[in-house]
Amino acid sequence: MTTAADYTEKIPNNVGLASDRRLQRALESWQPDFLSWWESMGPALPTRDVYLRTAVSVGREGWAHWGFVPMREYRWGVFLAERDRGRRIGFGQHKGEPVWDKVPGEYRADLQRLIVIQGDTEPASVEQQRNLGATAPSLYDLRNLFQVNVEEGRHLWAMVYLLHAYFGREGREEAEELLHRNSGSQDSPRILGAFNEETPDWLSFYMFTYFTDRDGKYQLGTLKESAFDPLSRTCEFMLKEEAHHMMVGTTGVDRVVERTAQVMAENDTDDVAGYGVIPLPVIQKYLNFHYSVSLDLFGGETSTNVANYYTAGLKGRWMEDRRRDDHRLTDDSIMVDALVDGEIGQAEVAALTGLNTDLRREYIADCQSGVTRWNRILAGAGLPHRLRLPHVAFNRKVGAFAGIEATPDGEKLSAEEWQRRRGEWLPTDVDKTFVRSLMRPVYQRGKIAAWIAPPRNGINGKPFDYEYVHLA
Ligand SMILES: [Fe+2]
Ligand SMILES: [Fe+2]
Repeated sequence: MTTAADYTEKIPNNVGLASDRRLQRALESWQPDFLSWWESMGPALPTRDVYLRTAVSVGREGWAHWGFVPMREYRWGVFLAERDRGRRIGFGQHKGEPVWDKVPGEYRADLQRLIVIQGDTEPASVEQQRNLGATAPSLYDLRNLFQVNVEEGRHLWAMVYLLHAYFGREGREEAEELLHRNSGSQDSPRILGAFNEETPDWLSFYMFTYFTDRDGKYQLGTLKESAFDPLSRTCEFMLKEEAHHMMVGTTGVDRVVERTAQVMAENDTDDVAGYGVIPLPVIQKYLNFHYSVSLDLFGGETSTNVANYYTAGLKGRWMEDRRRDDHRLTDDSIMVDALVDGEIGQAEVAALTGLNTDLRREYIADCQSGVTRWNRILAGAGLPHRLRLPHVAFNRKVGAFAGIEATPDGEKLSAEEWQRRRGEWLPTDVDKTFVRSLMRPVYQRGKIAAWIAPPRNGINGKPFDYEYVHLA
């Protein structure tokens, strides 16, 4: 199989679409629906063209093409990472057997469900970010937003390809539904809670790409281990693109913190709202919100479904092959967060049932690395202030702590006290209105809004003051 995309085709791909007329026709009939969804739910800001990366192959070197593209002509394609012919199942009851090129009948429903849930998040984030272009702090940031948007669109294509190619009529129906559910819709919302929240300002966007996109990275990491090889290869390639989304979030928050720290240090005050930058306590509240809703995406601390997925070989652990155990876990146990006699504590459960906790722990450690980085920026500015991740029991709607309230320190609170004090820890209407008041577009080349520091580097070796976006 060739790894380069065939760009003479309507749908760029490295999956040999040309030799499968039925599948090609199915995808070509879905394509207009996708484009009308993109027009009505994708980026609202009119642009002529944007300096974008397009995936054109999957090889280690030069998988992407860079250039100015009108966004609606972006070549959304279908790419699977190269096949490893000797690949064997790495975990569960089928460990050591060859991976599957087709969906085994007994796992069909579960695999379809996993793909639909992942697929649903991809267009959801595009919908959530639809209006951000109107308030971009720079052309550089505007480009990054659009890059994330087109790639989430491509990730939708990736999941729709799997549904069309391997799940028959039901798969095609699910592919339609992925365009009919919409973020925040009353009648048909997106499947997962965090993907129905608004992304009304750029601080939210950076927090979203840091915390919520990072959940996506971890979910893709577990699906990359799947015994169903086409899913594994799809996710492996998606993870390459995700690295850029992570970078947008990490450096976005870096730059907000850097600018705030600079103004705090210069004026020797914490009270910087009057200087037109975002006060540290407000940044902390946004962090608290996005982190806690993202923790909910990992599901309950214990799950028999996930145990079954693992045993069946459908969904592995993060970095499965680096784990030093038997990769079956039938005799192991794990401590998970739990309510113990009504108090915040831990309980021992079978390792298989605790797999959501295992993944969430990996995720939390990764989130902590961002906080450490942001605190280095504060320390570098000579400030004693520090940001931190709130306790796992804080503001949870899913799992062991969904029924209780807790402070960011992990102290249990009564419902009344939570109501009275939640504004200390989560963004209030006043905070949100203030942040929104700073959101004014800066579209001049090389200029940047006052509430955020410029990036250290531009994109793809271009300078910050490159004209990354041509507005319409
Ligand atoms: Fe994605
Ligand atoms: Fe992403």
